Amino acid sequence: MNIGALHSILLVLSTVHAFQYNQLAQYIDEHQEDYVEALRDWVAVESDSSNVLRRSELHRMMEMVAQKLQQMGGSVESVDIGEQELPDKQRLALPKVVTAQFGTDPTKHTLCVYGHVDVQPAKLEDGWATDPFNLTEINGNLYGRGASDNKAPVLAWMHAVEAYQKLSLELPVNVKFVIEGMEETGSNGLEAMILAQKDSFFSDVDYIVVSDCGWLSRRPAITYGTRGNCYFLAEVRGPKQDLHSGVYGGTVIEPMIDLIGILDTLISPSGKILVPGIREAVAPLSDDEWRMYQDIEFDVDDYKNKIGVSKLMYNNKVDLLAHKWRYPTVSIHGIEGAFSDPGTKTVIPSKVCAKFSIRQVPNMDPAVVEKKVSEHLHSVFAKRHSPNTLTVSMVIGAKPWLADIQHPLYEAGKAAVKRVFSVDPDLIREGGTIPISRTFQDVTGKSIIMMPIGGFDDGLHSQNEKISRFDLSDFCFLSVVLFLQMLTQQLKKNTRGRSALDYFSESY
Ligand SMILES: *[C@@H]1O[C@H](CO)[C@@H](O)[C@H](O)[C@H]1NC(C)=O
Ligand SMILES: [Zn+2]
Repeated sequence: MNIGALHSILLVLSTVHAFQYNQLAQYIDEHQEDYVEALRDWVAVESDSSNVLRRSELHRMMEMVAQKLQQMGGSVESVDIGEQELPDKQRLALPKVVTAQFGTDPTKHTLCVYGHVDVQPAKLEDGWATDPFNLTEINGNLYGRGASDNKAPVLAWMHAVEAYQKLSLELPVNVKFVIEGMEETGSNGLEAMILAQKDSFFSDVDYIVVSDCGWLSRRPAITYGTRGNCYFLAEVRGPKQDLHSGVYGGTVIEPMIDLIGILDTLISPSGKILVPGIREAVAPLSDDEWRMYQDIEFDVDDYKNKIGVSKLMYNNKVDLLAHKWRYPTVSIHGIEGAFSDPGTKTVIPSKVCAKFSIRQVPNMDPAVVEKKVSEHLHSVFAKRHSPNTLTVSMVIGAKPWLADIQHPLYEAGKAAVKRVFSVDPDLIREGGTIPISRTFQDVTGKSIIMMPIGGFDDGLHSQNEKISRFDLSDFCFLSVVLFLQMLTQQLKKNTRGRSALDYFSESY
């Protein structure tokens, strides 16, 4: 087909879109109360994945998800992902992963929605103003654990499919769902499930969308990258037991002093990582990226006030965003075996183990980082000529994730945000790690987009988590619009058998 024909199709299509947009928007507006009630039912389930005493609630939550998708007419499966072993060696069934499919038209693109319905712990006594498992509305905000992370977004994607169904409009894309119940504790069992279904459930998936993060400011955002993390243990062992500093101090070489000495060689006071070979691996900041950061809405003073500090590592927006998202950093988390109780015990600990982590960004490779860190620590330790022994191990090696923002999926995402909020989204990254995006990318080879909504002050993982009732509708609308935008991308690409014209005349 020539470009002229394509343009005229897109023009007709946008007229059809305009009509559908209005119908869908009206439907969603009229059903806001239903969406609130659906969220109320889900929030009432204390699906805390970290509390083994709540495991039956978590199983019940997964059943509710499966039931909802079944009622919508999807082909639904509850996938058994096995058991988890608790620290006391007891074994406990993991919550099933629910998958569902709406539409199998091979001429359409298939969008797979990932979400989770487990939550962080919450108790009224933690300082909640309302019962965390009784959704409570105050000034248009709906307070409840899991409201924003991640129950409302999961429901919004489902309600988006439902809106098409109820209006008897054909879904512009095939939609699949993968909903899990262990995200808050590390997505136990999910990676194996994705690997196992790589050539079945995931074989026809074209794109994956995740809505499990927040905006950076009041401006809508799309997330295209997350940092990874390498977590290390560095243990120094010395005398065979703890010693009294009055009796032995001055005669023994203390493991804690060795440990602190080597930890101090990881990063400089100005934030420069001192381990050779780490900074060298970081992808350089391009001019385009620098310009993008300049345009992002981010208030340095607000950020400072929120944390309660008088000075940050950098004092301008671009450096701060860059170091939050796309540069590695070292954080020291704690020292096991160190005396940390109140009081003044004069102990010389015989064995201490430091925990620190290094956030990962392109083009760092956790395997290389492990080697470099271990070599570096052993080399500085050797210079101390200590009789103590050092062991270094890496216990987590999560890779960073970065999407290609030129990909048509991002064109569709940006257009959808613009259509719903009438502004261009900020393209942002997350400084934290969402390993599942990288896993999806590596295992399925598909493009992933993160489309958050609201959330910058939603209090995820914190007291008084909430989502605005208007975000419920906006989110749903964003989802339906993304479906339509993807249809446009589908036509532009026109990579599937039939011509775009055939498809267009049959569908509408
Ligand atoms: C939830 O809170 C409302 C308002 O305080 C109260 O009327 C209702 O009984 C509560 N529901 C449950 C299940 O506790
Ligand atoms: Zn989440």
